[in-house]
Amino acid sequence: MSHSYTLPSQVQLLPATPQLKGLMTIIRAKDTTRSDFIFYADRIIRLLVEEGLNHLPCIGKNVETPTGATYNGIDFEGRICGVSIMRAGEAMEQGLRECCRSVRIGKILIQRDEETHQPKLFYAKLPKDIDSRYVLLLDPMLATGGSAMQAVQVLLDNNVREDRIIFLNLIASPEGIENFVAKYPKVKIVAGEVDNNLDSNKYIVPGVGDFGCRYFGTD
Ligand code: URA
Repeated sequence: MSHSYTLPSQVQLLPATPQLKGLMTIIRAKDTTRSDFIFYADRIIRLLVEEGLNHLPCIGKNVETPTGATYNGIDFEGRICGVSIMRAGEAMEQGLRECCRSVRIGKILIQRDEETHQPKLFYAKLPKDIDSRYVLLLDPMLATGGSAMQAVQVLLDNNVREDRIIFLNLIASPEGIENFVAKYPKVKIVAGEVDNNLDSNKYIVPGVGDFGCRYFGTD
């Protein structure tokens, strides 16, 4: 998406390659079938996870190759886990598992309170040792940032270090980014694209509509 908005330094966008643009074009089209939506969203998710993993610390590691020569490589340091913000974030769990075998994945359910209209925590189940891990926080759409900010607060309350949270989303809004970064400046955001704005129903525009409904086949 072309935007004149200057991204804060905490936000890392996926490279705007023709591949990414093509995948985004498919998932954004309103007539895309559910099967295609899942397949192509999964491909973007995989790119996001791979990019997210680039933000983990690493140290030098030399290995000997079959030619007898030395390859100056690296090894990743620090353990990770995933935390998905239910329900749409669950769509990103498989992509994380494909990159990180048997990764631990916690879940957080936040919904809008009918009376106060504020996001409210309903459920959280996290790995016991989450305070010693880097956390890949999963939610495909960063709209207002309300749920994501509440989810980060849950992680901080469980003694996760703010600078060890990497938040992955396919599409973000400038408003969501601004709200989020103002409150949690040490969290790294990795996003596929940044869109223009939110509509009166707080959907991202142009966006994809309701990501969870399109992915899981519900209304
Ligand atoms: N959640 C969605 O699924 N879509 C949006 O546009 C915003 C939040």
